[in-house]
Amino acid sequence: MKKIGIIGATGVVGQEMINCLYDRNFPMSELRLFASARSAGKKVSTPKGELTIEEFSVEEAKKSDIVLMAVSGSFAKEYAPQITEGDAIVIDNSSAFRMDNDKPLVVPEVNAKDLKNAKIIANPNCTTAILAVALYPIYKEFGLKKTIVSTYQATSGAGYEAMMELENETRNYLEGKEVSCDKFPSPIPFNLIPRIDIMTDNNYSKEEMKVVNETRKIFHNSELQISCTAVRIPTFRAHAESVTIETERPINPEKVRDILKNAKGVEVIDDPKNWQFPMPLTASKKYNVEIGRIRQNIIFNEYGLDFFVCGDQLLKGAALNAVQIAENIV
Ligand SMILES: NC(=O)c1ccc[n+]([C@@H]2O[C@H](COP(=O)([O-])OP(=O)(O)OC[C@H]3O[C@@H](n4cnc5c(N)ncnc54)[C@H](OP(=O)(O)O)[C@@H]3O)[C@@H](O)[C@H]2O)c1
Repeated sequence: MKKIGIIGATGVVGQEMINCLYDRNFPMSELRLFASARSAGKKVSTPKGELTIEEFSVEEAKKSDIVLMAVSGSFAKEYAPQITEGDAIVIDNSSAFRMDNDKPLVVPEVNAKDLKNAKIIANPNCTTAILAVALYPIYKEFGLKKTIVSTYQATSGAGYEAMMELENETRNYLEGKEVSCDKFPSPIPFNLIPRIDIMTDNNYSKEEMKVVNETRKIFHNSELQISCTAVRIPTFRAHAESVTIETERPINPEKVRDILKNAKGVEVIDDPKNWQFPMPLTASKKYNVEIGRIRQNIIFNEYGLDFFVCGDQLLKGAALNAVQIAENIV
């Protein structure tokens, strides 16, 4: 039994961490919830009774065996090394450590073996984790020459306040009031924004380059040819991704469906004639990543495939993946 701490417990990821730990019967003797001074004293109900949010301090967080961190990159950079000076292990959801050579970046269905005895473990970017769990079984069987991804990302990917901006500004729009924006650079209701995070020198956004670099690290293939266009859309929850691949070996949809039926963490929903395919509404609050619209690509023919994935980015893209990592180290 482990003593668990969650830092950022009032955020959208932190709240899902609490749910996942109880729902999966994680073997814990204690759960402590930390956030900023703003939230200290707030009550959170859990299946095992009410817990009180504590103001974060290194001294208190250090007393946990495993600390799940869901704050910001700068916060993680400052505090994760201090918390792990003792026996505690930190599993961090920010981008702070993902590309550090000495820190594992883990999607348990793909590379749990990278965990070894690390003290700080990085959870991947949400879009990357959802893609990796669906793409890896295909990569292993058929090899990948090229992978081209376009994303449709929910507002909760930018945090609780961003999700509320969608709700509040949609109401303003429908009531004929002025629509403004704060968490997003443009109004999000009835719009989409083809840029997530800052731009980088090669004219891809940082979010897009996270998908490229993190997938390479998780797959242990620094040469993987992959590109991404990341787009924010006005949904609350679950990211969708359209994926086109060119493979090294011949591929066809039937074989892929068969392989994915036995793969962990994915669920094939692929009956488009009957309107059955992955969607944010069906993928929300679900642990498995949905995959469908699996079809032979008409450019690469027997060496190519198109498919569509949709996964709950608060779960597989964040909280669930972090709890699965914790399950692997107990
Ligand atoms: N949202 C997603 O889909 C997603 C997916 C993967 C990874 N992530 C990453 O996960 C992290 C959390 O994201 P989120 O979406 O959950 O954000 P969020 O909803 O904005 O929550 C942020 C959390 O951080 C806490 N916090 C802020 N400053 C703090 C401080 N000085 N000390 C202690 N706690 C502090 C907040 O506490 P208060 O309530 O007290 O302010 C809140 O609990 C980020 O690094 C994000 O990039 C998010």
